Amino acid sequence: MKCIIALAALTLAAFVNQAAASIPSFGLQTAAAIRSGLQDSDFRINPSKGQIIKNEKFVVQIANVADFPALGGQDVQSQVARVLVRAGQPFLPHYHPRGTETLNALAGVFRVSFLFEGLNPRNVTNILRPGDSTVFPQGLPHATTCISKTDCLFLSVFNTADPGLVPVNL
Ligand SMILES: *[C@@H]1O[C@H](CO)[C@@H](O)[C@H](O)[C@H]1NC(C)=O
Repeated sequence: MKCIIALAALTLAAFVNQAAASIPSFGLQTAAAIRSGLQDSDFRINPSKGQIIKNEKFVVQIANVADFPALGGQDVQSQVARVLVRAGQPFLPHYHPRGTETLNALAGVFRVSFLFEGLNPRNVTNILRPGDSTVFPQGLPHATTCISKTDCLFLSVFNTADPGLVPVNL
């Protein structure tokens, strides 16, 4: 009986091991193991090679874990977005249900704002110039408008691989 249980345990262990080897899963692999499976070039993150969302007011380039696996390591967890907003135009107001955004202004002049939570939320507004950064805390609605006569460019980095995006009317 003991022998059968031992054999069953061994078979199960072998099966789990094999499954872990054939199906890469963050639950079953160490961060170092996942990282060692990546090429050097996987660590070159260029949002222009990711998802592109484009209209007459803005162009968004998103580097996410689906296209850049290096962003998904359990010790990394990030997303990068490069956004061009045309002169004088607003970017789509929205919030990220699962992540905080750090926006880094690269060109042009922006007006950025976000709302605190609560029934009568405070509106935090700033003017950003190249070299300035700001943060939009997780889940809080934010608005970004390019107020310069030249196009605006910013690069945002998220503290999670899957921040999500929900548009809002402000
Ligand atoms: C904050 O107030 C400004 C000026 O009224 C407005 O343009 C902006 O949309 C507001 N921001 C948010 C996130 O509601």
